[in-house]
Amino acid sequence: MCGIIGAIGYPNAADALLQGLRRLEYRGYDSAGIAVSTKTGFDVRRAVGKLNALAEVISTSPLKGNTGIGHTRWATHGGVKIENAHPILAQDRVAVVHNGIIENHRTLRKSLEAKGCKFTSDTDTEVLAHLFVDAMDNTDNLHDATAKVLGQIEGAYAFVIMTTDYPDQLAIARQASPLAVGLTDEAIFVGSDAIAMGDVTQKIIFLKDGDYGTISHDHVHLSDSDGQTVNREVVVVAASPGLVSKEGYHHFMEKEIHEQPDAVLHTLSAMTDSNGGFHLPQFIDFTKLTAMAYLAAGTSFHAGLIGRYWMEQLADLPVVTEIASEFRYRHPSLRQISLALGISQSGESLDTLMALRYMAEKGVNTAALVNVDTSTMARESGLHLITRAGPEIGVASTKSYMAQMTVLLILAVVAGHQRGIIPDQRRQEIEAMLSSLPRLLGESMACSDTIKPMVARLAKAKSCLYLGRGTLYPLALEGALKLKELSYIHAEGYAGGEMKHGPIALIEEGLPVVAILADDEHLGKMISNVVEAKARGADILLVATDSAARQVVEESPELAEMVVTVPDCDPLLAPLLLSLPIQFLAYFTAVHKGTDVDQPRNLAKSVTVE
Ligand code: F6R
Repeated sequence: MCGIIGAIGYPNAADALLQGLRRLEYRGYDSAGIAVSTKTGFDVRRAVGKLNALAEVISTSPLKGNTGIGHTRWATHGGVKIENAHPILAQDRVAVVHNGIIENHRTLRKSLEAKGCKFTSDTDTEVLAHLFVDAMDNTDNLHDATAKVLGQIEGAYAFVIMTTDYPDQLAIARQASPLAVGLTDEAIFVGSDAIAMGDVTQKIIFLKDGDYGTISHDHVHLSDSDGQTVNREVVVVAASPGLVSKEGYHHFMEKEIHEQPDAVLHTLSAMTDSNGGFHLPQFIDFTKLTAMAYLAAGTSFHAGLIGRYWMEQLADLPVVTEIASEFRYRHPSLRQISLALGISQSGESLDTLMALRYMAEKGVNTAALVNVDTSTMARESGLHLITRAGPEIGVASTKSYMAQMTVLLILAVVAGHQRGIIPDQRRQEIEAMLSSLPRLLGESMACSDTIKPMVARLAKAKSCLYLGRGTLYPLALEGALKLKELSYIHAEGYAGGEMKHGPIALIEEGLPVVAILADDEHLGKMISNVVEAKARGADILLVATDSAARQVVEESPELAEMVVTVPDCDPLLAPLLLSLPIQFLAYFTAVHKGTDVDQPRNLAKSVTVE
């Protein structure tokens, strides 16, 4: 959620920290700050708003020092204001950057206030800073002080602490929120992920939950949750790309929409053998599975919903697709579930991670489908599948969603074949079809020209409905989510058949209804649903495959105000191809309204709090 970084022993640490924060800005962008250690204490710069605001402050008032910490914030406790920006200080002895939530912060704050501590922010983080002051007064080294603080706090967190008492060390800890240490010849770094340190090192130690310790410029001292000294493996991660550029596009989202043919191509290549047949990186015996759970959040959840249709239809294997944040709290009956798959672009969404851990605790095998191969979910799951979409910078997920659907379709085909539901010939047909998907996606990009002039009307709407049936129903949910998060227009997605059970009451003159159609078994019924909406005054925007659109126009020439099409395809591919116009629609509407497309308000790319 928030991004944290620290460096010890690095010349001009502030430059490296700022660069690291740029790589972490996807985690939050309400405010940011950097503090460096000086001979007399700390030198701190903080700014509200995007990282450029902090860069501006630092350029007019540079920071000097070789040890420092930095933070980019996504507000949880306390509003977006300078007092709540990190680093948060206590008594000029402790500076803290923290990601996560200290759940018992209220109780701790009261007892600290009773002891005379003066708080200057509304954050739970400041509690941590004061606890460190107290702990250092009652221990004789920073490692023990850290253990003492950890004994008092509850919640999910990762933090880096800089102190004047121990200027040659930083204290670090991780519980449920990610944290990694980066090693270089001259200095040691710490950051929310390996990408944050990608400019300076590829040698990474990933902390495990409960790990804490201290780092100096040449030494890492880690303990596990039992206080035992541990040596965690040093992993050499793949070179992290430099700061990804927009390459001439107006926004990362626009670029990432256009990268989808490549995202699918790379994902497919990694899962295709030399004969063009699908193979999974690790063997899954689908004949032994009784049921699966797909656990995910947001857009990844929508991919999971589509994947469920495929797995049940092609492999006759029951799947429950659940919103990860709800799953474990409803104490689900797990008797039938023999494999749980977490679906996540970042591999760090805490809701999904916790749902997977819950399943592992209950003895269910877990697997992760992630886009970041060094992520916590990838490292914790026995089995992991990687989407090869490349770094996704725009907060709204596009190309990783497309790659997730690709993998979920392959899984269903492999499962169906293993379970004897799909004969060899059908499997080969689908393999051939999927290999043409990158080309079809490339051809479908042309729909953006039709969409651009359409959005002026949609941009004026207060509300909008998306309708679909079958695998296009989850796409309707996804379309509504994209419009909401990017252009701040209220939108809902419904299954076409569900309209008559209530939502049809919402339809009034001029309400935009985006109807998503393919030439599939649902087409006739979907046309009826759209006709019902039109009869009540809705403005119909048809998003359809060519032949579906033709049939609608033949049957009901006056039905749609606007039509956007993609090339004809097998119904299995329809949710993938039709995702393009759905993404463009939200993108161009947001651009028309002038919202911040890549960093919409109140959002963060990776949500590592509950
Ligand atoms: C919406 C979006 C979010 C994410 C969700 C899960 O465009 O991007 O809804 O899909 O926060 O994130 P991951 O997939 O990283 O677990």
